Amino acid sequence: MNRHALLIGGAGFIGSQLAKILLSLGYKVTIVDNFSRGKLEYLEEYKSSTELKVLNFDIAENSECEKAFIEAKENADITEVWHMAANSDIPAGVLNPAIDLKDTFLTTFEVLKVMKKFNVKVINFASSSAIYGDFGDTMIHESIGPLLPISNYGAMKLASEAQISAAAEDFLDRANIFRFPNVVGVPATHGVILDFINKLLFNKNELQVLGDGTQQKAYLHVSDLINAMLLISNRQISDKVEIVNIGPYDKGVTVKWIAEQVILRVNPSAKIVFGDGNKGWVGDVPKFNYSTEKLRSFGWSPNLGSEDAVKKAIDQIALQLGV
Ligand SMILES: NC(=O)c1ccc[n+]([C@@H]2O[C@H](COP(=O)([O-])OP(=O)(O)OC[C@H]3O[C@@H](n4cnc5c(N)ncnc54)[C@H](O)[C@@H]3O)[C@@H](O)[C@H]2O)c1
Repeated sequence: MNRHALLIGGAGFIGSQLAKILLSLGYKVTIVDNFSRGKLEYLEEYKSSTELKVLNFDIAENSECEKAFIEAKENADITEVWHMAANSDIPAGVLNPAIDLKDTFLTTFEVLKVMKKFNVKVINFASSSAIYGDFGDTMIHESIGPLLPISNYGAMKLASEAQISAAAEDFLDRANIFRFPNVVGVPATHGVILDFINKLLFNKNELQVLGDGTQQKAYLHVSDLINAMLLISNRQISDKVEIVNIGPYDKGVTVKWIAEQVILRVNPSAKIVFGDGNKGWVGDVPKFNYSTEKLRSFGWSPNLGSEDAVKKAIDQIALQLGV
């Protein structure tokens, strides 16, 4: 059967790149996005493809979610959902938890309800390392617990995973839950690199860093992330729910190192000014030790480690901003 992916949040950073790869693999793709952060211009390159349809709906609203499925089905039966929509501004969700309730959780809740109604039984879900909370130096593998997220975003991603698990007991044939680390590349819509370059464009002499710069995290290039998701989603397994940490094989890089690399690319004479404490904002996990052992056991390896992924993304995002 020809595969037809309903790609929710497909006009955003990761979704737009995933759409490109799915089309190149011969899928029909229907993108649904409310364009709160996504942009049509990110789909420019392949918008004339006869295999692509783009719909503008808010998936957190039941009636709009249903309309999206109805219009997508006019194209062909939907074989799988790729759910990439969420609020990607974590500090905004801390200030107003309703943002994460709606865009991070209710999108999942409504999608599952409508999938059941239209008999769509496969979901691929973009979860996050944020569901783990702060485990300090402890190695975080998929079965660690208890899970105590420290941001509303992480809490609503964890609630989404739980809702998917319940749906698997009810009607799903397969749910792939991908726990992403920090993902970098273009078109950047948010994140530390975009933030730093924008700050330097505003004040070329000084880069203000949130926190003391010691936060250390793993960064994965979007091209490696998509390879890993496709590999996981195509594996034959006996369980209905597959949960996998996706990430590079290293311990990551510090925010201080990223700030230095950004300055080198944008304005080497700029001064870096650090804030206080090892958290950039409420809900920021200062350090984590991410186990990718399960993913490695599938024979996957990234092309780029954290350092190279960040360096490549700095260059790509600088070009995106015309620097
Ligand atoms: N980029 C990362 O570092 C990272 C890390 C962990 C997890 N994730 C997850 O990966 C997914 C994709 O992230 P991204 O970086 O591409 O973010 P993004 O903000 O660029 O993309 C999300 C897309 O979802 C859309 N959207 C949001 N609410 C919607 C709604 N109610 N209805 C329809 N569309 C809606 C936005 O317009 C946007 O196009 C998200 O679920 C995110 O939580 C990303």
